[in-house]
Amino acid sequence: MVTSEATPFAKSGGLADAVSALSRALSKAGHDLRIFLPRYYSIDRAGLEPFGPPMAVPTAQGEEWTSLYRSVLPGSPVPVYFLDHEASFGREGIYGSKAEPDYADNPRRFALFCRAAFALCRRLDWYPDVVNAHDWPSALAPVYLRRLERGGPFAGTASVLSIHNLGYQGIYGKDRYPDLGLPWELFHGAGFEYYEKTNLLKAGIAEADALGTVSPTYAREIQTPELGAGLDGLLRHRSADLVGILNGVDLEDWDPRTDRLIPAHYSPEDLAGKAACKRALQRAFGLPEDPGLPLVGMVSRLADQKGIAELFGPAYGCAVPICERMALQFVVQGSGEKWCEAELSSLAARLPNFKARIGYSEETAHLIEAGADFFMMPSRYEPCGLNQMYSLRYGTLPIARRTGGLADTIENYDQETGAGTGFLFDDLTPRSVYDTTGWAVWAWYNKPEHVAAMRRRAMARDFSWDRPAAEYGRLFARAVSRAGGRTA
Ligand code: ADP
Ligand code: GLC
Repeated sequence: MVTSEATPFAKSGGLADAVSALSRALSKAGHDLRIFLPRYYSIDRAGLEPFGPPMAVPTAQGEEWTSLYRSVLPGSPVPVYFLDHEASFGREGIYGSKAEPDYADNPRRFALFCRAAFALCRRLDWYPDVVNAHDWPSALAPVYLRRLERGGPFAGTASVLSIHNLGYQGIYGKDRYPDLGLPWELFHGAGFEYYEKTNLLKAGIAEADALGTVSPTYAREIQTPELGAGLDGLLRHRSADLVGILNGVDLEDWDPRTDRLIPAHYSPEDLAGKAACKRALQRAFGLPEDPGLPLVGMVSRLADQKGIAELFGPAYGCAVPICERMALQFVVQGSGEKWCEAELSSLAARLPNFKARIGYSEETAHLIEAGADFFMMPSRYEPCGLNQMYSLRYGTLPIARRTGGLADTIENYDQETGAGTGFLFDDLTPRSVYDTTGWAVWAWYNKPEHVAAMRRRAMARDFSWDRPAAEYGRLFARAVSRAGGRTA
């Protein structure tokens, strides 16, 4: 696993959870794997074990000297290796900082990291059947494998690129291309070139032996112009090698029966603990501790992908009418776009039933999942989405847009029969977010027996990683046979 994120070491979103949980599940299923991560400044060296002498990594300029550290993925025997290189990773942030949200030298940083993955295998004298890369930061690994490393000890190694989010492609100027240490022959319309720029994800998609993405619906959606983010043509071209595999939920971290970060535990058979979590959540956010009011929660990166304009856009979003006209409470935990952070604070100052915490807190995220009655997730697009699966698991019914993994995991409420596990809408407009929230609130007050049954049904859904891990096993096998038939 060549990855820029893996919990608990480095996380900016669901990618980190997905990679670690997948790794644990693969290991449990008998695969022998290793995880390779950069040693960011935020990962304390004190918790890691130095691993061997300095390691030379070939680069565009010649070579760079790096060092390695080692640890183990908690809850598994999987070794985790960290690439230490002060000039690349000895700074705040994974991809950028407050001052520079996307580091200009990211192509050089992640090129070094991806090349180092092969140097690490040589150091370990361990040559995997498959290199699995994740999103644009490690999309160069399949390219290096096919163009620079295949042959020699990597003759039998295939590559799989997992697409967790097509909205982030790692696009940089053409002048950055020489940092990758690859010949200009690969800078063309079927490779790196993208409107005269360097597109890392695009090259990875073109070069990987097989492609995965994180839900069956998203696998179809990204082959359309609407959600293909400019790469739908290439993805249609690679359609036969692309599989959608729904992520699971890691029960080590996200199970209301055992969750270490919530004040009371509960199960579908006994929901008393959920009521206690709701009280604790209301108290934590300074809301009246009223069990009768529906409590809507949200935990999110504040990015356009998440429907934040429709919810919180000044003078446009529907959060104000929702809070003013509906008898409910609304709590949000999030960080991201500056305008949205400012708007959340301003809404919280104006609306007595709206509270927001800006920033990143694992503990608050768990408390919201456990304590809320409904979970707001009006995503513009959603490759898989882990939060709605956590919500279902915690009996917190999602209010969500029918897209990507949301469509694959939530069944819409049927007010005639009481069936369903959440409240879905199709068009992303402030109006439909407002109406669908109103529908959920209506059910809360008028069909409490439906809400109770939906909750139990949602909690009983099986989102274990065993099935996805088996599907990844088949995808890896497919990549290996594909690699055998491909010429460099
Ligand atoms: P994405 O990866 O697109 O952000 P997912 O739903 O797949 O969406 O995963 C989001 C993950 O990040 C979840 O584990 C969620 O709890 C976490 N998360 C997002 N924002 C925050 C935040 N501000 N504080 C704590 N956790 C957060
Ligand atoms: C990305 C996607 C999200 C998905 C996660 C893990 O961050 O935005 O939908 O759940 O990756 O695969």
